[in-house]
Amino acid sequence: MLQKIATLRAEIEALTAASADEAEALRIKYLSKKGLIPALMADFRNVPAEQKREVGAAINALKDFATERITALRDAATATVSGADIDLTRTPAPAPAGTRHPLSLVREEIIAIFRRLGFTIAEGPEIEDDWHVFGALNFAADHPARDMQDTFFIARNPDVLLRTHTSSVQSRVMEHTEPPIRIICPGRVYRNEAVSARAHCFFHQVEALYVDKGVTFADLLQTLQYFAAEMFGSDTKIRLRPSYFPFTEPSAEMDISCDLCGGKGCSFCKGTGWVEILGCGMVDPAVLSSCGIDPDVYSGFALGMGVERITNLKYRVNDLRLFSENDVRFLDEFAGTH
Ligand code: DAH
Repeated sequence: MLQKIATLRAEIEALTAASADEAEALRIKYLSKKGLIPALMADFRNVPAEQKREVGAAINALKDFATERITALRDAATATVSGADIDLTRTPAPAPAGTRHPLSLVREEIIAIFRRLGFTIAEGPEIEDDWHVFGALNFAADHPARDMQDTFFIARNPDVLLRTHTSSVQSRVMEHTEPPIRIICPGRVYRNEAVSARAHCFFHQVEALYVDKGVTFADLLQTLQYFAAEMFGSDTKIRLRPSYFPFTEPSAEMDISCDLCGGKGCSFCKGTGWVEILGCGMVDPAVLSSCGIDPDVYSGFALGMGVERITNLKYRVNDLRLFSENDVRFLDEFAGTH
């Protein structure tokens, strides 16, 4: 009997439990009514009278030892799963999500506004040829924009270049599409400029083009007014100033009322009460012809804007370099903006 007790004690000493359930199973095995220790107690009556004292004490000690050991195993197992220092009612810390780049936010907003007017997205290559960037768009052969100072040429080939504006997508789409054409062309453009707070060698533009029968300047004006109100708020005023672009005639530049000073004049609008946001005009008939569209049947308007410029106006980012440095302190400022 004493031998049996010693064996059980050694067995219990070596027990392990990985979970509260395992510890409970051990309790049932050793300590429950039908368990091994109570079974020993049942055998107690067969112990010779002169040994009863010693064996009785040994069984009681084994029972205490088993109770203590199995309770300790249960406590250790539960502590690793949901111990006292884990508060399950606490609000979890939010997982840090990435932020959308401010230029993407603004580009998506511009696209959404034009989508509501029925425009669809068109894209074109960033590596272009002279014809689509300049030739088809009515740039004279000696136009300064073709110059090395503005345009990045690839492999010294004057016919392979990085597009300097997204107007090149206009020429590509017109060349193979029968009007009506109503497209919006977002994309990156490149110019050979020294990088500073106000200029960069690459930036982003969104171009819009509408060609159909009977498109007039009034359609352009309505589109501009709708865009300005949606983008900058319904009380935004616009004004058009006559301008020149080779691919539009007449051409204009659009200003919006300065929302910093409400039009009174401040340092941001250089005291004028207005800030310039885009270029636009009626597609020059020569451009329609170049792209295989009959200017006697169709007319159209085009407009183009810089995404960085619109972003600066909306979020007052006054150093263009911030957009491409990927400093998370800057990007985090746009967290939660949709
Ligand atoms: N392509 C011009 C630029 O990069 C912007 C522009 C002006 C686009 C007038 C147009 C437009 O479509 O009509 O400066």
